[in-house]
Amino acid sequence: MSEQPDIAPLIELLGKTNRVTVLTGAGISAESGIPTFRGEDGLWRNYRAEELATPSAFSQDPKLVWEFYDWRRGIIASKETNPGHIVLAGWEKIFPEFYLITQNIDGFHFKAGSKNIVELHGNIWKLRCTEEGTITENHDSPLKEIPPHCPSCGALLRPHVVWFGESLFPSIIQQAYTLSAQCEVMFVIGTSAFVQPAASLPLRAVEMGAKVVEINIAPTPLTPYADFSLMGKSGEILPKIDKNLKREA
Ligand code: OAD
Repeated sequence: MSEQPDIAPLIELLGKTNRVTVLTGAGISAESGIPTFRGEDGLWRNYRAEELATPSAFSQDPKLVWEFYDWRRGIIASKETNPGHIVLAGWEKIFPEFYLITQNIDGFHFKAGSKNIVELHGNIWKLRCTEEGTITENHDSPLKEIPPHCPSCGALLRPHVVWFGESLFPSIIQQAYTLSAQCEVMFVIGTSAFVQPAASLPLRAVEMGAKVVEINIAPTPLTPYADFSLMGKSGEILPKIDKNLKREA
């Protein structure tokens, strides 16, 4: 039987912490009903995400790739943020320096009200012109045109997300490393901590002397480095921490 972890020492630490950085992964949106990457669900027309979320799939068949994204956008549009997202949005007002780094492309942290967000892998609600590089927001679900085209130059639009085999934007990853290096406490929530460079961010925080708090339903490669390892659902653990926080709001 899993014991309820004693969160009193964490509450005490957070009571005197000013700089908090959070890294989230698919697990924080799992309780909203969004399939995780390495969970068992997630096939679409028998394709795995790794087969369609790639530059080569897009150049071979942009319509198929956009149908896949239109399906994913539809799932996200039909779901709601959960208490985990909501607590993190509230913490922006509680901690003097609070930043959220996410690997998720669902936009739920924005929807919950967070503002200081670094989206490592982009955002499914943003479209990028393959010629001009301009980025526009589009929340149509379903999309009006598949594949969509740039209203100004007519070139194909692509999802503004990082695909398998692509590099992250250097300025974004640099920002994420800086925020990991300068925090006093880093929360790592709902990520399998496998995919680089995201997985190395908490290690940077450890190196710089920050305390690491992991929240996950299962152990990860990061668990041995965590000062606090809270096993359970983020949508339950975060509200519990929040309720006990002793800070002047
Ligand atoms: P994964 O699917 O790899 O991992 C999800 C993690 O969330 C696992 O460790 C689960 O144990 C945990 N989890 C599931 N439900 C949870 C809950 N309710 N509360 C807390 N934890 C829970 O997803 P990511 O780590 O986000 O990249 O994957 C990282 C990247 O891999 C993705 O951003 C994607 C993929 O390749 C790109 O698309 C570029």
